[in-house]
Amino acid sequence: MLNILIVDDEAAIRQSLSGVLEDEGYKVAAADTGEACLETLGRRSFDVVLLDIWLPGIDGLDTLEKIRELPDAPEVIMISGHGTIETAVRATKLGAYDFLEKPLQLEKTLILVKHAADAKRLRSENLELKKQVQSKSVIVGDSVPMKALRQQIAVMAPTNGRVLIFGESGTGKELVALAIHAQSLRKEAMFVEVNCAAIPEDLIESELFGHRKGSFAGATTDKEGKFRKADGGTLFLDEVGDMSLKTQAKVLRTLEEQRFTPVGGEEPMTADARVIASTNKDLEEEILKGNFREDLFYRLNVIPFFVPPLRERKEDIPQLARYFLKEFAQRYGRRPREITDEAIETLARYLWPGNVRELRNVIERIVIMNPTITRFDRKHLPPLVYRDGAKRPGTEFSTLHQARAAYERDYILKKLDENHGNVSRTAEVLGLERSHLYRKMKTLGIAVKE
Ligand SMILES: Nc1ncnc2c1ncn2[C@@H]1O[C@H](COP(=O)(O)OP(=O)(O)OP(=O)(O)O)[C@@H](O)[C@H]1O
Ligand SMILES: [Mg+2]
Repeated sequence: MLNILIVDDEAAIRQSLSGVLEDEGYKVAAADTGEACLETLGRRSFDVVLLDIWLPGIDGLDTLEKIRELPDAPEVIMISGHGTIETAVRATKLGAYDFLEKPLQLEKTLILVKHAADAKRLRSENLELKKQVQSKSVIVGDSVPMKALRQQIAVMAPTNGRVLIFGESGTGKELVALAIHAQSLRKEAMFVEVNCAAIPEDLIESELFGHRKGSFAGATTDKEGKFRKADGGTLFLDEVGDMSLKTQAKVLRTLEEQRFTPVGGEEPMTADARVIASTNKDLEEEILKGNFREDLFYRLNVIPFFVPPLRERKEDIPQLARYFLKEFAQRYGRRPREITDEAIETLARYLWPGNVRELRNVIERIVIMNPTITRFDRKHLPPLVYRDGAKRPGTEFSTLHQARAAYERDYILKKLDENHGNVSRTAEVLGLERSHLYRKMKTLGIAVKE
């Protein structure tokens, strides 16, 4: 429900306006002075303030200035009495949304209040999204590939280059896109996401480019598209590999011309959005199969980013697990939790087919399911993780012969490495004849570099 505050020293005006606005479904409060208005705003948040210019005590303009300094300030509509129009104009320069003249006309007042409330809602939403982007774009993990990725982000973010992010599902592609935006020169503008896999084919064009009222059944009003919303900011095309060829053609044209036409529209519009795309498909293979346009691929893939699967950077698992533990303990209002080294080891041994997203879900689950436990152990982990992660290394082999060969291979490689690849010295260390080690290396497929 939207909150409106009426500030006027005339009781009659407060009463009649309150009644009218309440009938429209607003929640209304009233104040009779500027001081009372500021005091009320300090206690509760409002969407719109209707503010009389002439007030006893501090006047409307001073009150307006103070309101504008508030965090998440409401929209202010000034009410001007006879002969104060010029002041009202000054007020709009000070940041008032608009002004109304006394005597108030019902129709006009209601429309203006509605528009101001819409403006406030949009502003709050944008603010909220921006805050989320900043706080959600922390990339945890100090493995070599993640350090390299962070460095690549820092270098590329301030450029306007298009980025295509490759990676398995759940590896953190969206997070990387957010981080690029948050470190770019566009960070004050919007980060707009379009999930190309989730939007039905017949709606995606309207989603991307907007539509005009009446252009198809269901288009009851004009709609702004995501390209336009991301003007000055970043447009994230998630799962771009799932876009139809028809939509791909339109997106390509938009990227080439920096212009597009809304569905059912006549006039082309411009939008300056930096496009970041992501995919968990092998797009080059999709191109060969005829499912993805090669020209679009090259347009999008100016700077490729690869987010490796979690199993290839197991060093990150302890840090990620502790990070999520802290996040969910906070979210569910629990005291900080600990996790035993054994549990961490088990987590690190599991293969994480769902990558970081799966790890995050597992941690959330154990926090929720064990409200009284302060120190999580292996037994608190979900059975699948517990079972697979508890396996001793080696049980993935089906025969003893295979297991022995794998172990021998690893062992010999390690010893060779310790001896800088010198076979004679390694043979000595292992207590083998040089020729024997040689044969073994050949059967185990270890190349000799001497
Ligand atoms: N390095 C990381 N540090 C912190 N959180 C991470 C990291 N990587 C991923 N996450 C978190 O894991 C979850 C999945 O990440 P994200 O949505 O970015 O992955 P994705 O690759 O886009 O996945 P999908 O292909 O399923 O869309 C998110 O909640 C994200 O915040
Ligand atoms: Mg994603």
